[in-house]
Amino acid sequence: MGTHHGKVALVTGGARGIGEAMAEMLVSGGAQVVVADLSASGAQEVSERLGENCFPLTVDVTDESAVVEMVAQVVSRFGRLDYAFNNAGISDAPQRLVDFEAASWHRMIEANLTSVFYCMKHEIKQFLTQDLRDDRRGAIVNTSSGAGVIAAPGQPHYTAAKHGVLGLTKVGAQEYGAEGVRVNAICPGVTDTPMLNESLPEEVLAQVLKTMPGGKIGRPADVAAAAVWLCSDEARWVNGQSLIIDGGGIVR
Ligand SMILES: NC(=O)c1ccc[n+]([C@@H]2O[C@H](COP(=O)([O-])OP(=O)(O)OC[C@H]3O[C@@H](n4cnc5c(N)ncnc54)[C@H](O)[C@@H]3O)[C@@H](O)[C@H]2O)c1
Repeated sequence: MGTHHGKVALVTGGARGIGEAMAEMLVSGGAQVVVADLSASGAQEVSERLGENCFPLTVDVTDESAVVEMVAQVVSRFGRLDYAFNNAGISDAPQRLVDFEAASWHRMIEANLTSVFYCMKHEIKQFLTQDLRDDRRGAIVNTSSGAGVIAAPGQPHYTAAKHGVLGLTKVGAQEYGAEGVRVNAICPGVTDTPMLNESLPEEVLAQVLKTMPGGKIGRPADVAAAAVWLCSDEARWVNGQSLIIDGGGIVR
């Protein structure tokens, strides 16, 4: 029986990259996992690959009513929610701050910060309806970034959104910790996912690699392993924290 047997997990942005790796680890640990993504076909493919304990769900996490429906669907199928990995996000082409149009700013903040607020709001509401199990009701892990800790030049909106995710994480932990809800965050460094390959020009990636230990980037599974642990009961006394997972690239 796996460590996560009997747990119900929700993974947003689970159709590929870090979210897909997270879904895979949770399924192999015995959890029932809902892969929620904007890409219906991507969520379907991942669910088929991961087998009978993985379920696809189409959602746009920038739409609060869709987030309400997402949580409701999880609860109607499984009766509860134990782990929520708020991971869906987008990237954007780098530019200097003065060159960004307001529309790009708003799109990024909606996708990478407001969406996390919507998810936390409705996941925590659900947790608070659940009975305590060994002093716990549920755990959230939000995906921030190295750009949630230090500046990513060329990405003012991404940097602001990911710093904001850490703020939300701390508030969630302090407001609900006493009620059996934990909220932590992961801050991945540069990780080998479709997002990276689509958004980072090769010359920028080459520069970034020079700053990475051994000139290497992380794998999705390297990042997901930390998120799985933060969700798990083993991390029961860890709350409001952000864990940088980047091989030591931005030690502060
Ligand atoms: N890859 C990296 O180097 C890196 C570094 C730091 C942080 N991150 C963060 O990790 C998270 C996952 O990134 P990834 O690299 O795996 O990206 P990815 O693009 O490979 O996967 C992201 C997934 O999120 C989904 N998604 C995007 N917007 C959505 C929405 N509105 N509603 C529902 N689903 C949506 C996409 O369809 C996609 O399947 C993101 O929050 C990203 O900012 C990534």
